[in-house]
Amino acid sequence: MPKSVTRRQLIAGTVPLVAAAPVVAKLAWPTSAGAERLASHEGHDHPHQGHAAMIGADVPAPGGPHDTDFALYPPPALPHRPGRVSEYTLTAVDRDIEVAKGVTFPAWTYNGTIPGPIIRATEDDLLRVHFVNNGSHPHTIHFHGIHPAKMDGVFEIVAPNESLTYEFPARPYGMHLYHCHATPLKKHIHKGLYGAFIIDPPKPRKPAQELVMVMNGYDTDGDGENNFYTVNGPAFFYAKYPIVVKRSQTVRIYLANLTEFDLVNSLHLHGDFFRYYPTGTTDQFEYTDTVVLGQGQRGIIEIDFANTGLFMFHAHQSEFAELGWMGFFNVVE
Ligand code: CU
Ligand code: CU
Repeated sequence: MPKSVTRRQLIAGTVPLVAAAPVVAKLAWPTSAGAERLASHEGHDHPHQGHAAMIGADVPAPGGPHDTDFALYPPPALPHRPGRVSEYTLTAVDRDIEVAKGVTFPAWTYNGTIPGPIIRATEDDLLRVHFVNNGSHPHTIHFHGIHPAKMDGVFEIVAPNESLTYEFPARPYGMHLYHCHATPLKKHIHKGLYGAFIIDPPKPRKPAQELVMVMNGYDTDGDGENNFYTVNGPAFFYAKYPIVVKRSQTVRIYLANLTEFDLVNSLHLHGDFFRYYPTGTTDQFEYTDTVVLGQGQRGIIEIDFANTGLFMFHAHQSEFAELGWMGFFNVVE
């Protein structure tokens, strides 16, 4: 497929695609609270481990077929413990990423993936993020949340081959995001420098099968409008590899919209309803099957599937769905 294909050509001709070649399995867990999170993670039930049920004949290797599979296995929540340091290293790297079959996007990434690694801490943990810029342009990390001005990732620009450590207490609890804030901002975001930033309440939310969904778009021909829309990176990925979940067991989605160029993005679930907690900062929720988010908006979805079977989820802008932002849950007993 040529890179210069238009949105209309794509809608007319595109088909769900096969998985991109596996790169490096990335469980981007923190280095400091990492051992604690790993210990807490062991023994957890992962009905979706290895994508047991899929559409199509290709069975990927255990651990998943794609380098953004970490979004389906976020590090676990930890209860509050005074003095904990949650520590991460993010490295900006330029990397060509296959965003749809045969279509490569010259991305700017954190740690080589779009979205970047999940940063997770418990409220009042000391969050320490080492940022190394191995990219070709100046970058920063701007965190949403509460922090000192000098930790905001706006004025302290990190030049190529330089580094900076961000450090502040993580608050408030909720679903947040991080992204580069170097100028021109629109370019630095749409090139791929963003990710999910989860702050857990002091007493963790009730047990659930958790995953992260970052909605985005790719302008692959440089005309200032998106040619593909995805969740967690590759177009149509969860249509090819449905996410396996269990009936009557809560599925918790940490959802964020990082789509550039378009005013809003959305998520619609078929066949069921969910609780939607805007920004995840209170226990107020809406009971719905569709949410619409502007760029930077995010929230937490909790689904208790009533029925087994394949249930589609997709952007409720039909054009986005047809350009890659569509997938399935496979709900099993
Ligand atoms: Cu940047
Ligand atoms: Cu922002």
